Amino acid sequence: MTLHKPQILIAEDETAFARLAADTFLKMAAGRARPLVTLPTGMTPLGLYQVLVSEHAARRDLWDQMRFIALDEYAGLPPGDERLFGNWLARTCLDPLHISNRLMFNSLADPDSEAARVETWLKQNGPLDIAVLGMGGNGHVAFNEPGTPFTQGAHAVTLTPDTVSANARYWGDLARVPHHGITLGLQNLAAAGQTLLLVHGAGKAAILKRALNGPVTTDVPASYLQTVPHVTVIADRAAVAGLVLN
Ligand code: PGA
Repeated sequence: MTLHKPQILIAEDETAFARLAADTFLKMAAGRARPLVTLPTGMTPLGLYQVLVSEHAARRDLWDQMRFIALDEYAGLPPGDERLFGNWLARTCLDPLHISNRLMFNSLADPDSEAARVETWLKQNGPLDIAVLGMGGNGHVAFNEPGTPFTQGAHAVTLTPDTVSANARYWGDLARVPHHGITLGLQNLAAAGQTLLLVHGAGKAAILKRALNGPVTTDVPASYLQTVPHVTVIADRAAVAGLVLN
């Protein structure tokens, strides 16, 4: 297995983090016709979306051409549910950016069939041009939890207790967090032409070190990033504490 070193860019504050993320994303998208892009939910990418939205008018051509594919989604929620990642992303960036070409997961469909539908679509229309990703405290990427084979495509998942309790912070109540989801797989993400991983805060430092400096292992799903070229990591100082940078 050939290992690759990601480019690591460090932002000194939140404003710089968002700016750097936006500039890096726009550079990745430049010159690609109809780029196929996936974007994460979570706290970490919020500043990126705010910058892109505030400057969207200057890039109208890009947003018109962009094809968006959902990264992950909860299973079993009705279309209007505020917890749906698709709704969150629509409010936060897809609607204000006027990205109309979207492939979303249908949360109410049978999760296995839905994953198979998206996998088939990706085979016909992929691979991803740009994967923008966050990382969970247990090293998950999208809903690829520890133990997920790197070779897996889109699939249905049962969330780990770690992820369920981490996601309770978005809704303030553990009981409101669904336990099942659908996700693009690590194989789909590894096939992306470019990858942008956003990592923020001291709480992610230990897992980022394991992901980038530790062994490539399914115990840390984000360690697949060492196996693919063209990865850029944007992090703040707290997240890179302890990381061997070169
Ligand atoms: P966060 O979530 O950006 O809110 O930290 C990341 C994740 O759990 O994938």
